[in-house]
Amino acid sequence: MKKYLITSALPYANGYLHLGHIAGAYLPADIYARFLRLHGERVLYVCGSDEHGVAITIAAEKKGVAPQEIIDHYHAANSEAFSGLHWSFDIYGRTSSAEHRAVSQEWFTTFFERGLLREREEDQFFDEEAAMFLPDRYVEGICPNCGSDKARGDQCDACGAYYNQLELKQPKSLVSGKTPVVRKTTHWYYPLGEFQQMLEAYIEGHAGDWKDNVLQQSRSWLKAGLGDRAITRDLSWGVPVPLENAHGKVLYVWFDAVLGYISATRTWAADRGTPEVWKDWWWKSEKSEATEETEYVAFIGKDNIVFHTLMFPSMLHAHGDYILPAQVPANEFLNLQGQKFSKSRNWSIDVRDALLAIPTPSGRDALRYTLAMNFPETRDSDFTWPDYRIRTNNELAAIFGNFVHRSMQFLHAQFGGIVPDLAPAYATLPDVWERTVHECIARSAGASALSDEDIDGLVAKASGVLTRDDVVFICSMCTGMRNVARLYSVFRFRDAITETMNIARAANKYFNDMQPWKTVKSDRDQCAKTLYICVQSIYTLSVAFAPVMPAVASQIQEMLCCKTIADGRVGTAERGPDVWSSCVLPTLAQGTKLNEPHVLFPKIEEEFITAMQAQLGAPDSTAPGTATPPVELPEGLITIDDFKKVQLRTARILEAERVPKSDKLIRLIVDTGADQRQILAGIGKVYEPEHLVGLTVVVVVNLKPAKLMGLESQGMLLAANSDSGLTLVTPMSFAPAGAEVR
Ligand code: 2FM
Ligand code: ZN
Repeated sequence: MKKYLITSALPYANGYLHLGHIAGAYLPADIYARFLRLHGERVLYVCGSDEHGVAITIAAEKKGVAPQEIIDHYHAANSEAFSGLHWSFDIYGRTSSAEHRAVSQEWFTTFFERGLLREREEDQFFDEEAAMFLPDRYVEGICPNCGSDKARGDQCDACGAYYNQLELKQPKSLVSGKTPVVRKTTHWYYPLGEFQQMLEAYIEGHAGDWKDNVLQQSRSWLKAGLGDRAITRDLSWGVPVPLENAHGKVLYVWFDAVLGYISATRTWAADRGTPEVWKDWWWKSEKSEATEETEYVAFIGKDNIVFHTLMFPSMLHAHGDYILPAQVPANEFLNLQGQKFSKSRNWSIDVRDALLAIPTPSGRDALRYTLAMNFPETRDSDFTWPDYRIRTNNELAAIFGNFVHRSMQFLHAQFGGIVPDLAPAYATLPDVWERTVHECIARSAGASALSDEDIDGLVAKASGVLTRDDVVFICSMCTGMRNVARLYSVFRFRDAITETMNIARAANKYFNDMQPWKTVKSDRDQCAKTLYICVQSIYTLSVAFAPVMPAVASQIQEMLCCKTIADGRVGTAERGPDVWSSCVLPTLAQGTKLNEPHVLFPKIEEEFITAMQAQLGAPDSTAPGTATPPVELPEGLITIDDFKKVQLRTARILEAERVPKSDKLIRLIVDTGADQRQILAGIGKVYEPEHLVGLTVVVVVNLKPAKLMGLESQGMLLAANSDSGLTLVTPMSFAPAGAEVR
């Protein structure tokens, strides 16, 4: 038996979490932890605020407050954001805690005393006006690799290169704005290079089970050769270096941050009154008292890869007693409506703003669902508000919610709101169902669907108690749940959730095919049996969707009067019943009184989406470094009558598809209020067709039709085009199709 230690990268407590963060290192981890708990596994899910480093001191300086004020504020705000989105951390710690300081200093001292660290005098940028050394983020300049003029002291956001700050061209102090001088300072180096071979073996040992992006980045670092890394900085904020001759120096944030997972686990253990138990989770089982091996899964975003596949594993290995990550499922980045998240341009959706706009638990779960269906698992992906609406209305409400609601309503209208009693002819159904499930598992060899012959065999064995339709449906739940489990276990979350929705699709089909509204008159016993199967499958679906939509799962289980969701184990890290496997069996007893149903996913209107989109900013051309040259206005003035010749109207996009053989052109059908027409728009490099449907745009309606790639375009969309990219012009708030634009 093994148990699972799950971590999510500790977010810096210097800003509000946005949806891009959530889709990277957080939501996959919460879904995974919830799935494993439902499976009965022992799980400890650890996270917390990263409260050191220059990211914090710069935020404090910008606001003119002490770093402590910044971290207290954002730690509280981000903890609340996680709770608002129904998080299931076992602990959310802080790296400013006394426990963390002790742990980090202990690790430094252990390495120091073993003679592993190297003390070295080196050149560093010094700001004479501010009288301070300039740690990496305090200098900006031109990237030595790609030439970007916004490169930071140690890393370039534009090309991802890491380098020594002295390599930066035209360096500028962010404290005084002056060019820094170079001065000598002493630092302690961690000999990462000494672990080159060990790390090569570790990475290649995972060649078959780690994601490509993680392997590729780790390999390219190894190929370049690992060298010494300074693990101290000249700063006043952080964990003080525990050496007498290190006054005014702190541990480098990346050295202490990764240890935050361990200190948070120690805090969790101490809080429960079992201070030694943390070792069961972090130490190799032969070193601790633990009887079960720990499988450590570290969820991160792609910008954190090498710290979790090289730096941290080498530290754990060097220490000796510790296990290494078994999996590092890093996601790529989530974009927002085709562009990178950017707080400075207000091109971002902070979780707290989303929570204000979406106050209901099911609306928030729908946001989790939408993000999960767009996880950047293999490449950067996109979140759009129209997609949130489409997924809520067309998937959650129209498929899953619809099945739950119609079944529950039918039970209340026709069977007095109870799990129907089975007629004597079907009395053995629960047993036959159970046998069918066991055979299905045996015959399906895992998760694949059964062949027609296998189904025939199961129908024959059901001796008239289950029909072919019943068997097909029960088996589709059974293989579906196993398939979802398989996909979760290999970190294919999008596919897992798509497959989950397929179970809901199968349930709707079953309800339709059984036509209970007819059989209730012609064969009431059969109708009762159909609804008995439907209500059990509502329970199955509540478990199936629980990892991604835990609040909705609880609401359904309240309707069914059966609370079994594994949330009760959060914080305890105990083993529990395997609800995931047993939920495909009939669970609800005949005669159980059910609560009144309510609509799980109220439809989202377009007005909501328009209002949310209006809150998004636009590329900010005044931001330093991104300023575009002044735009030259065309010569010659026109009169208002000239302008009036151009008729502009709002139009709703009804259909959108790519024009074959063109990466740029999208064929749209728009409703202009007066007619429906076809427009070809050159926006295919920026927008995906499915994200355009439902948007209100501005159209020139009196443009002469033109032919593009053999297709007629009857108008033109307005879009703003600049160095920051192309973006469609849409009204700030709701406007019906056909409104005149002036
Ligand atoms: O990128 C970040 O937000 C870092 N604070 C992640 C740290 S992960 C771990 F080391 F704690
Ligand atoms: Zn660069």
